Amino acid sequence: MLRPNAHDVRRRDFLRWLAASPLLASAGGIATLEPLIAQEAPRRVFDDIVQSAEDALDIWDLQRAAEVTVPPAHYGYIMTGVDGEETYANNRSALEQLRLRARRLVDVSNLDTSVNIFGRKWDTPIMIAPCGSQRAFHAEGELAVARAASSRQHLQTLSTVSSTAVEEVNEARGEPVWYQLYLSPVGPGSWEGATALMQRSQDAGCPTIVYTVDLQGGSNRVTLERYSRDDNRTCTNCHTPGGRAGGPKPMLRGLPRGTPDPGLGRSTTWETIPRLRDATNQKFIIKGIMTAEDAELCLRYGVDGIWVSNHGGRAEGSGQATIDALPEISEAIAGSIPIVVDSGFRRGSDIVKGIARGATAVAVGRPYLWGLGAFGQEGVEKALDILTREMEITMRAVGAPSLSDLGPHTIATS
Ligand SMILES: Cc1cc2nc3c(=O)[nH]c(=O)nc-3n(C[C@H](O)[C@H](O)[C@H](O)COP(=O)(O)O)c2cc1C
Repeated sequence: MLRPNAHDVRRRDFLRWLAASPLLASAGGIATLEPLIAQEAPRRVFDDIVQSAEDALDIWDLQRAAEVTVPPAHYGYIMTGVDGEETYANNRSALEQLRLRARRLVDVSNLDTSVNIFGRKWDTPIMIAPCGSQRAFHAEGELAVARAASSRQHLQTLSTVSSTAVEEVNEARGEPVWYQLYLSPVGPGSWEGATALMQRSQDAGCPTIVYTVDLQGGSNRVTLERYSRDDNRTCTNCHTPGGRAGGPKPMLRGLPRGTPDPGLGRSTTWETIPRLRDATNQKFIIKGIMTAEDAELCLRYGVDGIWVSNHGGRAEGSGQATIDALPEISEAIAGSIPIVVDSGFRRGSDIVKGIARGATAVAVGRPYLWGLGAFGQEGVEKALDILTREMEITMRAVGAPSLSDLGPHTIATS
């Protein structure tokens, strides 16, 4: 055990413990990490306020708490984008710069925030994005997230590189999650491995495969490297000496090796999609789409849904914000298949903007990871509650009693 659980230690005591920690002495203190990634919004700091999940007033309160409780290298893994964080910043600034048009004197006494995806009704459009290695942020990792998402009925997608197997996550959640698929180099590098992974998730009851395509070229995670260099602990629980992650993740263990497939990896093209599509009965979504051209290809190749994403700024550097990519993509899709969007959504008003620009649902990554890292299941629940409350207030404020009342008219043109 490297650190006390935030549940057990009041934050003030915890900060005191941390200040005395050799970990910080070697890293030169948390202050040295701050210039690497600024807080996402200007704010006055009330250091003692967030001692429990209940205290958090917005998502950034959870971020600040997680920055204290999560070990530096793991916090760096959450925070990192690529290069100098331009894509990460673009996601936020584009959302912040969009202005809402508010209609008045509309009856907003009854709100309908429900969405229908693949014939199933969800009470909320806010989804849990797939994020790997969640036990690096809290001992209960994916199980805490599953319990939190289930308690509020949020749709959840589990990563290929989860630190908990899909069967256990489904059991904690009480129903199957959606399953995210990586192919080589992050996931299985053979066709046999890929189909075995899909088959395993199908056998576990997962109704949908989310195939992530935005890391095919690799990614330049400078911020992660900087945080890692600031973290001198030796932790052999999950790491080999030298700090690299240990053996394969649970879902990648024991997969048939098969023949390394040159069509899976850097050279994968759209031609692989029908092959993957036909290998499963599950619904098939592609995650990482950023252009109308690729949205049209999704339609041509019979994909069931698309997920607009730049991996939260972790894929291409100097990338466009997803909220800015949405209009051309929703025009190309013209309502024929569901669109999920993520990357940089931190406020209920951001969720409203995503739906207004044509998304069916909005997924979040870091907001719930910060909650998880700071306070476990309660922190994830708090992140979801904050976003839900803010979204509902915004819907009432702009005179939209249901999500279908949001549209391009909700966004100001200047
Ligand atoms: C720590 C971390 C791990 C992630 N792991 C995965 C993953 O395993 N598979 C995947 O498709 N996306 C992964 N993502 C990207 C998320 O699914 C999502 O696209 C992104 O977090 C959304 O941006 P946001 O964090 O700004 O909300 C990860 C993101 C983070 C922050």
